[in-house]
Amino acid sequence: MKYDFDKVVDRTGTESLKWVYPRKVLKVEDAIPMWVADMDFEAPPAVVEAIRRRAAHGVYGYPLIPPSFWQAAIGWLKRRHGWDVRKDWMAKSPGIVPALNYAVRAFTKPGDGVIIQTPVYFPFYHAVENNGRRLVRNPLRFDGRRYTMDFGDLERKLDEGGRMLILCSPHNPVGRVWTQEELEGLGRIAVERDLLVVSDEIHADLVYSGHRHHVLAALSPELAERTVTCIAPSKTFNIPGLSMAVVIASNPKLLEAFKDETERAGFELGQVFGIVGFEAAYSQGDDWLDELLSYLEANVDFMEKFLEERIPAIHLVRPEGTYLALLDCRGLGLEPAALNDFFLKKARVYFSDGAMFGEEAAGFVRINFGCPRVLLVEALERVERAVKELG
Ligand SMILES: Cc1ncc(COP(=O)(O)O)c(C=O)c1O
Repeated sequence: MKYDFDKVVDRTGTESLKWVYPRKVLKVEDAIPMWVADMDFEAPPAVVEAIRRRAAHGVYGYPLIPPSFWQAAIGWLKRRHGWDVRKDWMAKSPGIVPALNYAVRAFTKPGDGVIIQTPVYFPFYHAVENNGRRLVRNPLRFDGRRYTMDFGDLERKLDEGGRMLILCSPHNPVGRVWTQEELEGLGRIAVERDLLVVSDEIHADLVYSGHRHHVLAALSPELAERTVTCIAPSKTFNIPGLSMAVVIASNPKLLEAFKDETERAGFELGQVFGIVGFEAAYSQGDDWLDELLSYLEANVDFMEKFLEERIPAIHLVRPEGTYLALLDCRGLGLEPAALNDFFLKKARVYFSDGAMFGEEAAGFVRINFGCPRVLLVEALERVERAVKELG
């Protein structure tokens, strides 16, 4: 291994949301935070070095985006996903959550139905509801081990007037890396029913062995016409604080509508370090990512074995991608509303409450296992002790 993912980095003093919230706001001083989606790893050295170099200049005026920034994204998408993208298909965004909000405003009108596949990353709900659109749920099906899409339900929701779907691919929090077949099934419906898809592919690079991410827009020209894809290096390289993302649409009408919306929101220029970090990550991050994926997959294996052997009342919904996973805790016999508090107060481990992602995930928590193994071991041992005390 060239990179040391076992290294424990003390984040004290960096005002890290992940660490400050459970410890200072919820006041469990020694809680291990395993909730919000940032990892406890340093960014790739190439990213750190690029930012250090830029920081050393000392003047941080309004930045332009250099051609090399777009080239880095184009190269990455070609190398990692076999997707040929052109610069004139792309627009920048200060993040994917902002992009989802811009997209809702750009492509729908107040009162229009926007479909999401629940349980799902909760800012999807906010993007719809905070902009005065009607939230339409197309719940995923769960067979006890794995989630799948429900196309019959989707067709019915379209009959009720859904115009746009926000797809999470790979899916947070259920950990699915949608197969080509599944995405083609969704794509057929989208084309037949004139549905616009905003495809949030922020987790596209974080996929484990035996699975492959498929870019929705790359599946067919008809689908590309009605798809807006959101990508970012922020989850992949652990740089969400750099606030830089890109939206891609080969349909010029969609791209222009998106850009008009960003302009109306007053977003004009990027952020100096975001631009530099984005480019360094996408142009020099390949080998770091390959090693990260091995490390994360070993974390999944470790966690699965640990739970099976030592805490069988908690079942891991094994993720096919992302560093997030649902833990099915219904076997503990606790009230869903009391679950996260139990983990925080009794185990001193802070997870995301499943119910935040939708009522379908009540009784589950989401673990963020993007951390050095020692932290994961300590967290699971704390959970084991707390569960034993339940009797
Ligand atoms: C599916 C999904 N979209 C978007 C984001 C956040 O994007 P950003 O930080 O670029 O707004 C996350 C973070 O966890 C996510 O899981």
